[in-house]
Amino acid sequence: MSRAIAGAEICVFDAYGTLFDFNSAVARHRAAIGPKADALADLWRAKQIQYTWLRNSMGAYDPFWQVTGEALDHCLAVHGIADASVRETLMSAYLALDPFPEVPALLERLKRAGKRLAILSNGNPEMLAPMVEASGLADRFEAVLSVDEALVFKPDQRVYRLVEQRCGVKPDKVCFLSSNCWDAHGAAHFGFATVWVNRARAPDDNLPGKTVAEIADLSQLPSLLGVS
Ligand code: LAC
Repeated sequence: MSRAIAGAEICVFDAYGTLFDFNSAVARHRAAIGPKADALADLWRAKQIQYTWLRNSMGAYDPFWQVTGEALDHCLAVHGIADASVRETLMSAYLALDPFPEVPALLERLKRAGKRLAILSNGNPEMLAPMVEASGLADRFEAVLSVDEALVFKPDQRVYRLVEQRCGVKPDKVCFLSSNCWDAHGAAHFGFATVWVNRARAPDDNLPGKTVAEIADLSQLPSLLGVS
């Protein structure tokens, strides 16, 4: 059990890649996309995130839904996919991404143990709400916080500040979980007790901010929190 994490008042989760599998959009439509499906999925995510960082640098915020679509357009062009129905299908799938397999039982267990739970995501409310609703997990969270309130993307500190503003919990009492290494470092640098959910078993990034723990998936969270 980690002391910093066991003392946390609230668990705040990143959405895409941490609770919800963004690859499930492409996976569901693999047959329609063809052999380029995996390369398309990887590039789509990479471009989507790259665009958020670039937009932060430019001071040019637009909702994540728009950025996600613009990233997809680039990837479809790279792979020479001109069929408009592929774009439409993939964007619709993004509104109902699958939670990772361990997530429903984990949230149930934490909720039963009396833990406060929230989401903090780059997603804008219009894309987060249908996804959380479709997963059947909406009632697990006391808040689904979106960067849309701050008009800037992660890892800008104004985003992480939303947790105290909306949930009234000081940063050092927040256990933040992200599978995105750069987000984990950003959150740790801000002052959250941060756990990196290293689903990809990737080497750490050399960035400011020291995470408190690293786990392979969220099934390892209860023991970190001291929840039986
Ligand atoms: C999010 C992205 C970073 O949900 O995964 O904020």
